[in-house]
Formats: sequence, C-alpha cells, structure tokens
Amino acid sequence: MNWWRPSAERPTAVAASLLSADFANLRADVASVEAAGVDLLHLDVMDGHFVPNLTFGPFICEAIRRCATTGLDAHLMITDPARYVGAFAQAGVDAITIHAEAASPVAETLAEIGRRGLRRGLSLNPGTPLEAVMPHLAELELLLVMTVQPGFGGQSFDPRGLEKIATLADRRRRDGLAFEISVDGGVNDDTAARCLAAGADILVSGSYLFKAANRAAAVASLRPARTSDAAS
Ligand code: DX5
Ligand code: ZN
Repeated sequence: MNWWRPSAERPTAVAASLLSADFANLRADVASVEAAGVDLLHLDVMDGHFVPNLTFGPFICEAIRRCATTGLDAHLMITDPARYVGAFAQAGVDAITIHAEAASPVAETLAEIGRRGLRRGLSLNPGTPLEAVMPHLAELELLLVMTVQPGFGGQSFDPRGLEKIATLADRRRRDGLAFEISVDGGVNDDTAARCLAAGADILVSGSYLFKAANRAAAVASLRPARTSDAAS
C-alpha cells in the first residue's frame, strides 16, 4: 500500500488524473508527475454506459502499477462496479472509488473492496444530494466529491461541490470519522484554495497539471505556500 499519509509537511495531497496524460507515453508521464511532486495517481475508468465516454480497465491499471511508485485510486465511472472489484484489486490499485449513482449495491460493494484490503471510496455527481452518501460515511476511507459531470477532462469547476465538502468536513469532525475528502473536476490554481478552505484533503487535477509547462510549479500552485516548498 503506497497511499499518501497526511503529515505536517504535506497536510494535503495532489492526485494527478491520468485521463489527461499522453497514453503513447504513459511511463514517461507517470514519472514526470511523480517527479513534479504528486502524492497519488487517479485512474479514470469509464464504460461508455455510466458516462458517455470509454477509457481503460484493469489491464491498463496493472501497467500503471508497474511504472508508478505512488498510490493509485481507481475512479470507477461504470454501471456495475461490483462485477469488477476483483479485477481492479488484482491489478494492484490501492483504492477503488465507486459512484453512489451506479447500479451496484453501495454497502455490499464497499464491503467487498474492504475485504480485498483496499481503501473504500465513494463518489457523487454534482447534481446528487449528499444524502446519497451519508449512510455510508463510517464505512469509507475516501469520499470523492465531483465538481464536474463525470466523463471528460477539461470542464469548468462546479462550485456546488464546495458546500458539500464543508458539510462533509463538519460531519466528519462531529462524528469522529476518518474518511479523506477528495475533489475531482476543474481543479486548478484558482479553485484549489477554495476546495482546501472548505475542508478537502486530496485535490485531483488532470488538464491543469498535464498542460502546465512546468508541472512541479503547477503541483506547488495547488498547495498552500510553505517555506519548504519555496526552498525546493
Ligand atoms: C472526469 C474525471 C476527472 C477528470 C478531471 O470524469 O473523473 O478525474 O480527469 O480532469 P480535469 O482536472 O481536467 O477537470
Ligand atoms: Zn476522476
């Protein structure tokens, strides 16, 4: 398990969404974002059914596992995630994030992810009310708040996610829970600070990071300024 752990030095994580990577050059792009300082890699799995786009499955996740050193979150934008938990576990990912809107039973699928020794992640679309995830908070390591409609990179940030992040952070504190709050979609140097102020722990960023001429500077621009960052 290579999952990021919060520290005084790194209280928040940046996860690179490989959806915006160059898949003809995946090993080089993984190395490049890891060298730029990302803490995690985010793998967008789409089935052309749950979302109107197709990407990749466990086979490519396994290839990424072989060239990555950081933790992998498989973000499953697929209709029946329960059917594929074993295959993604086998591929060597560290976390599997399913959608509250998918057809698989949420509690059972999360339990199966946990039985495989992986971090249990649950996500919700911008238009889905928080009530859809509330019953599951105690059974999660990761809650992924979508700030774009899933399916494509490069869309603009939907601010409705900020209120959800703040409510989740409050609930977590009140109930003594430990899930990490991740935010996915339109995260850049403008929106990141608002997500962190609301209580997010992990910032997923795709097009902003991969398009940057200087990826290390782009990663640093997502985190609050620290003396150690300025020195490196
Ligand atoms: C969208 C994906 C995101 C996407 C984010 O369906 O879940 O992870 O890659 O890309 P940006 O950062 O470009 O919005
Ligand atoms: Zn994603």
